[in-house]
Amino acid sequence: MIRIVEMGPRDGLQNIKNNIPTEVKIAFVDALSQAGLDEIEVSSFVSPKRVPQLADAAEVFAGITRNPKVRYMALVPNEKGLDGAIGAKADKIAVFTAASETFNQMNINATIAESVERFRPVVERSPVPVRGYVSTAFYCPYEGKVTPTYVVEVIKKLLELGCDEISIGDTIGKAQPDEVSELLAESLKVCPPKKTAMHFHDTFGQAVNNAKAAAKLGITVFDASAGGIGGCPFAPGAPGNISTEALARTFDSGLDLNALAKASSIMRPYL
Ligand code: HMG
Ligand code: MG
Repeated sequence: MIRIVEMGPRDGLQNIKNNIPTEVKIAFVDALSQAGLDEIEVSSFVSPKRVPQLADAAEVFAGITRNPKVRYMALVPNEKGLDGAIGAKADKIAVFTAASETFNQMNINATIAESVERFRPVVERSPVPVRGYVSTAFYCPYEGKVTPTYVVEVIKKLLELGCDEISIGDTIGKAQPDEVSELLAESLKVCPPKKTAMHFHDTFGQAVNNAKAAAKLGITVFDASAGGIGGCPFAPGAPGNISTEALARTFDSGLDLNALAKASSIMRPYL
């Protein structure tokens, strides 16, 4: 049995050029809340100049109808973001850094070391559990192949800070199953399967195979987005996340596929 962490409202919508009304985002989250998911990343509290698509994070959080079985997560880059997430009553927050310096600069304007220091007070002050993302864990759009040793060092730093869970990101969807096995063979030595989530984007149709490779090594938590929408505006060529539907058809997930289809259909007119 796997657990899917739904990324659609955050990773999905941050990369869509069309203007999506706040009410539509709220309807999307509410529909996802009825699909049997237990965690949804609702939005991010980042600079509205950098990601205008999610500038209404507070309004979205305030407008959703919370299902008590669902944890509603917010992505935050710094203490200002943490304050936004606390104000929005997020049940969990996620900080994010990368395993490649160039991507991290482009994404959050910091070195990896600077970002970890930025997260220290965020993790200390957070009243809710903290997930830590490691982006570009396989390939960087600027630097190419990333070595597993480097990824493991970043994972260690995030765990030392006190992150409760690590999500390993194939930001540009270039990983192959053998590379997933290779990285996990190293990362699982420092971060056990129950604390590890895999975050696959799907450029070359390998994301499901990558998830299968990870599942073989004991991974049970996967990030995905309804309808396969998504991508990072600061990673050129970043495609959509692996779709929640594809994962739910491949693994036993307990999700309601009809309810998922309804949720995905809400976004379709805006893609
Ligand atoms: P900065 O450019 O270094 O500068 O920002 P700053 O900290 O001095 O702030 C600049 C301006 O942003 C100021 O406003 C701040 O108040 C404001 P101004 O004075 O110019 O009017 N600001 C904020 N506003 C709202 N909320 C905040 C906040 N912080 C500062 N939290 C910063 C650094 C990280 C904020 C910026 O670079 C940023 O927001 N970047 C966007 C990063 C982002 O959202 N990327 C996409 C998500 S990551 C992803 O998709 C990957 C993932 O899915 C995993 C994977 O696929 O690998 C997670
Ligand atoms: Mg992503």
